[in-house]
Amino acid sequence: MKTPDLSTTYLGLQLMNPIIAGSCGLTDSVEKIIKLEAMGVGAVVLKSLFEEEIIIEMEEATHAMTNRHFVFPETMDYMETEDTVNILADYLELIRASKKAVGIPIIASVNCVSSQKWTYFAREIEKAGADALELNLFFLPSDSQRGEKEIADTTFEIISKVKRTIKIPVTLKISAFQSNLIRYCEYIDQAGVEGVVLFNRSWLPDIDINHLVISSGFVLSSPSDLGNTLRWVSMLSGRLNCDIAASTGVHDGAGLIKQLLAGAKVCQIVSTLYINDLVQIEKLKDELSKWMIAHEFNTISEFRGRLSQSNSGNPAAWERVQFMKHFRNFV
Ligand SMILES: Cc1cc2nc3c(=O)[nH]c(=O)nc-3n(C[C@H](O)[C@H](O)[C@H](O)COP(=O)(O)O)c2cc1C
Repeated sequence: MKTPDLSTTYLGLQLMNPIIAGSCGLTDSVEKIIKLEAMGVGAVVLKSLFEEEIIIEMEEATHAMTNRHFVFPETMDYMETEDTVNILADYLELIRASKKAVGIPIIASVNCVSSQKWTYFAREIEKAGADALELNLFFLPSDSQRGEKEIADTTFEIISKVKRTIKIPVTLKISAFQSNLIRYCEYIDQAGVEGVVLFNRSWLPDIDINHLVISSGFVLSSPSDLGNTLRWVSMLSGRLNCDIAASTGVHDGAGLIKQLLAGAKVCQIVSTLYINDLVQIEKLKDELSKWMIAHEFNTISEFRGRLSQSNSGNPAAWERVQFMKHFRNFV
């Protein structure tokens, strides 16, 4: 049998394979992106541009300029138009330089906390030449005053504004803790995004019981984190017009294949690259190819989504009833 074709599309972009290096410290310089391409990733999501960092930098610079404790909106406008904000300027340069250096798609990523700056960042990122934009929206659901509808409406408004501003594809990276996930995803799908990324990994706190202080939990995921993403990829597959990217818990070829069977267009990997190094990309591709040969698949579209909730022929297999079946054996 001939070598299987691993190519796929994501957000309308052509990818050599469905493995994307997700946003992290391994995607924050041109040198690292060149290495990732050499190791065979299908695309790269750049390290996020964090709105708070830019705002702090702007405030510090403005404070130095005006010696006041607040920033005038017009001063912010000036700083935006004059491009005096180093973090943003550096990020735009990273996009431009990466586009010159590699042939794989470069997806920029913005992590914002307010709705005002989104469109400005998006426009600059498009101008710099990014192939797509991943919006990283995270509202920690700890504010009991902020209802589900308000969060969905804010998200919808942000997406609509960004979509009106730029022409490159937009994908939304969401939290697994979003309430009523299916309805939320259907809602953002209607807002016109080209993709949804399941899921972002939030920082996990821990407690150091020896020193009685708050500490940091595990930063990296493990293969056992795959199940939650797999559940939602499979349940959303076929319900949305936009593409689904699986992110969280894909550590090996089996994880990649499972997500494709559940309906993911691509998989974003991060933790496994930190744990196993970039050589893991080659291993994932190799395992996928061998599995496709063993199952006589020539292209990914021949099996993608075959075990999604709607295609599996057994929708209940993905639902709560399984809890009784599988947990009963533990006595
Ligand atoms: C060290 C590190 C840095 C990360 N930085 C970002 C970031 O800047 N923006 C973002 O959207 N996600 C970031 N993430 C989350 C990853 O992109 C990814 O969604 C998450 O790690 C789950 O994938 P994994 O299980 O393959 O690690 C980061 C993750 C790690 C481990």
